[in-house]
Amino acid sequence: MAYHYAKAGAHLVLTARRENVLSGVRSKCLELGAKSVSLLVADMGSSAAREPVVEKAIAEMGGLDYLVLNHIGSTPFQMWNGDVNHTRWLMEVNFLSYIHLATKALSHLAKSRGSIIVLSSLTGKIATPFTTSYGASKFALDGFFSSLRHELAMRRIPVSITLCILGLIDTQSAMEKIRDKIAMHAYPAHDAGLAVVAAGASRVEEMYYPWYVRPLCFIRDWFPQSRAWLIQKSYQYKAEETVVSP
Ligand SMILES: NC(=O)c1ccc[n+]([C@@H]2O[C@H](COP(=O)([O-])OP(=O)(O)OC[C@H]3O[C@@H](n4cnc5c(N)ncnc54)[C@H](OP(=O)(O)O)[C@@H]3O)[C@@H](O)[C@H]2O)c1
Repeated sequence: MAYHYAKAGAHLVLTARRENVLSGVRSKCLELGAKSVSLLVADMGSSAAREPVVEKAIAEMGGLDYLVLNHIGSTPFQMWNGDVNHTRWLMEVNFLSYIHLATKALSHLAKSRGSIIVLSSLTGKIATPFTTSYGASKFALDGFFSSLRHELAMRRIPVSITLCILGLIDTQSAMEKIRDKIAMHAYPAHDAGLAVVAAGASRVEEMYYPWYVRPLCFIRDWFPQSRAWLIQKSYQYKAEETVVSP
C-alpha cells in the first residue's frame, strides 16, 4: 500500500516495530516517487507508545488525508488452546490500537475531508476455524467502525470509513501460517494493496478483494448447515492437535 501511495506522489508516515524493515520500505517509496517518507517506530500493543503517533505524523506532514489501519499481532493459526492472555493482547494490537489511532486522527481528518481505511478479513464476516481470537478482533472492528460511520454521517463530519474485507493474500506471514492447514489460492499482495488504496480514495464503505469475497458475504446466511459443513471440510485437522488449557 505504501508503494502505491508513493507512486501517487504522497507524503507518507510509516509505522511498525522493525526499524530496519521500515527503512527498506522508505528507500523504495522514495524511488517510486513519494514526496517525503518519515518513520515512527512504535509497538501498537502499547498504549503509551502509540499515543503520540498521530500527533508526530501531523507534525511531519502538516495534516492528514488517510489513516490506514493495517497492522496485526502475530497469532497461531490453530484450534483454540485456552490462552486468554494472548487474546487480550491481540485485541489490544488488532482492535484497541485501531480505535486509539482513529480517535487521535479524527479531528485532523475532518479538516481535510479525509478517510480512515480499516483492513479486515473474510474471517471478520464469516467465522472460520483456527482464527478464534483473530476473527474476534476483525468482527469487533466491523462493529466499531460501522457504528462510528453512522455517527459521523449523523453529525455531518466529512470523514469516510472504508472497511476492507480481504480473502487469502500471499504475504509471507499468511503463507507460513496456512501451510498444511488449508489448500486455497492466495491472491497477490500488490493487487490487494492497490484495491485497498483505490477503495479508500473512492470513499466506499466496504471493499471486497478478491472477486469471490463479496458473493460469499452476500450468501453468508442462506444455507447455514451446508456452510458449516463446507468450512469444516476445508481445514485439515488431526485430533491430537487440540490442547485446551483450563
Ligand atoms: N494476508 C492475508 O491473507 C490477509 C487476509 C485477510 C486480511 N488480511 C489483513 O491485511 C492486513 C495485513 O496483513 P499481512 O498479511 O500483511 O500481515 P503481516 O504480514 O503479518 O504484517 C503485519 C504488519 O504489522 C506490523 N506489526 C505487527 N505487530 C505490530 C505491533 N505490535 N505494532 C506495530 N506494528 C506491528 C508488522 O511490522 P513489525 O513486525 O515490524 O511491527 C507488519 O508490518 C491485516 O490487517 C490482516 O488482517 C490479510
